[in-house]
Amino acid sequence: MAGEQIRSPRARLFVALDLPTAVREGIGAWGEQALDDPALRPVPAENLHITLAFLGSRPAQDAERVAKAIEQGVAPAPLIELLDPLARPPRGRPRLFALPVLSPGTEQLQARLSQILSSERFYESEQRPFWPHVTVARVRAEGRGSRRPIEVEKPPGGLSSELSKPFYGIRVVLYRSELQPSGARYVPLAQVKLPGAGQQ
Ligand code: 2AM
Repeated sequence: MAGEQIRSPRARLFVALDLPTAVREGIGAWGEQALDDPALRPVPAENLHITLAFLGSRPAQDAERVAKAIEQGVAPAPLIELLDPLARPPRGRPRLFALPVLSPGTEQLQARLSQILSSERFYESEQRPFWPHVTVARVRAEGRGSRRPIEVEKPPGGLSSELSKPFYGIRVVLYRSELQPSGARYVPLAQVKLPGAGQQ
C-alpha cells in the first residue's frame, strides 16, 4: 500500500560459547539438588551457555551475514574454569544465579568477536566490562503485576570437584532466542567449531 512500510521479520539474536555436553549435563545434575528452592527456575541443561554478544532484536535476514562475521573470529578453543555460583545483583533480592567463568581465552575471543560484530554494525559494545558467566537459574517474580523477585530461602551451594575441573569451550554459535510462556527456546542458526576443542 502506498506510504506503508513493509517491515521485515525480526529475530532476537545472540552469540554464545557452547559448553561440552558432559559439562551441561553435569551442571544440570548438580542443579537438581542445588537449585531446588521453589523460587528458582533452573536453566535447562540444553540451554546452558556463555553469552559472548547479545545482538537484540535484528532483521531476521541479518543472520546469514552475522554467521559470516563470526567465522572471522575463530580462535583456539578457550580453557574454562567454572567458579561457585553468585547471586546477581549482589545486593538486594537476587534476580538470577550464575557460575562465574575464569577464562582469559574466552575474554580474548569475546573481545575479538565484539570488535568484528561492531565494525559490521551488528552490535554495539557494552559500556560495562564483559562478565563471562553461565546463568544457571532465574528467580521467579512475585507476580500479580509485580516484577520483584521472590525471596530465595535456599541459595545454591558450591560446585562439585568434578565441575570445578577445567575444560575447553567447544564452538561459537549464533542463536535465535524465542521467548515462550514455558521459557526461552534457543535455536542454533550457525556454528563455528573452535580448533583444539577435540571431540566433545
Ligand atoms: P544472561 O544469561 O546473563 O541472562 C539469551 O537471552 C542470552 O542473552 C542470555 O544468556 C542472556 O544473558 C543474554 N541477554 C539477554 N538479554 C540481554 C541484554 N539485554 N544484555 C546482555 N545480554 C543479554
